[in-house]
Amino acid sequence: MLENVQTVAVAQNWWPIKEADHILTAAGAHNGLTARLVEEAGFDFIWASGLEISASLGLADADIAGHSESAHAVSAMRRASSLPVIVDCDAGYGNAVNAWHTAKGYFESGVYGLCLEDKTFPKMNSFVEHGHALVPVATMIGKIEAMASCKVVEEQQVIARTEALIAGAGVDEALERGFAYAEAGADAVLIHDKTKHAEQLLEFAARWTSPTPLVCVPTTFYEFTTEDLERAGFSVAIYANQGIRSQIAAVKRVLTQIRAAGSSRDVEAEIAPVKEVFALQRLDEVSALFDKYVR
Ligand code: SPV
Ligand code: MG
Repeated sequence: MLENVQTVAVAQNWWPIKEADHILTAAGAHNGLTARLVEEAGFDFIWASGLEISASLGLADADIAGHSESAHAVSAMRRASSLPVIVDCDAGYGNAVNAWHTAKGYFESGVYGLCLEDKTFPKMNSFVEHGHALVPVATMIGKIEAMASCKVVEEQQVIARTEALIAGAGVDEALERGFAYAEAGADAVLIHDKTKHAEQLLEFAARWTSPTPLVCVPTTFYEFTTEDLERAGFSVAIYANQGIRSQIAAVKRVLTQIRAAGSSRDVEAEIAPVKEVFALQRLDEVSALFDKYVR
């Protein structure tokens, strides 16, 4: 199995984020179909989003869906796309041993990157008004070390995410945590922010002196372009949930219209033709298998 991972790493040309010479982008997905849509749109990575996976199950993003449900979704994404997948591992599903178990399974099966946040388990989605509590720095370092110890090839990445700004702890605390996580072996540090103007996030990036690359999630500060974020010092921008939010808006609009009109006539021009569904399902591959093997 480990040899397979080496082969995958070479075949997919994985690289450490710190080697990128321009900002890279990821977009959120939760199943094989959405992973293919992310790939077709030209993103560099798939972000296996905890929010999206939970929402797709009709569940809150609060560690209610567990590791095995996420792993199931991740394997569908990996089957559907050859893009590197970065898995949102939330708070590691428990303590450092739970985080180790999570990382071992993902890294040995050939996942490219894992993201771990410094909130207490069970976590609550960062955008929810909630008393977001942080684990002590030493606890997070133990989890980072445990996850990093599970890498099979050095190109695999552990992204440490600090929720200090989400928890209202301020930029100094965010920096202290970020530097400690980088020192502990994180391959990149994600600084999360849920404000529109992201002043604290920009201050964090301006005061970041470590060579470890920075990652951001421009959900609320959507006025910033990818180029703006690159200029501010970020190496990766994760468009974590715009995909599922657009799906919700489109499905609601179309179904409401069909129900009201009593027909899909008025929406046919704007919805994907069945042929496009077939293409996304790679029906041509299945047809070729039928022709070859079914007698
Ligand atoms: C996710 O996509 O699950 C994330 C990013 O963790 S966010 O929901 O923006 O916190
Ligand atoms: Mg998440």
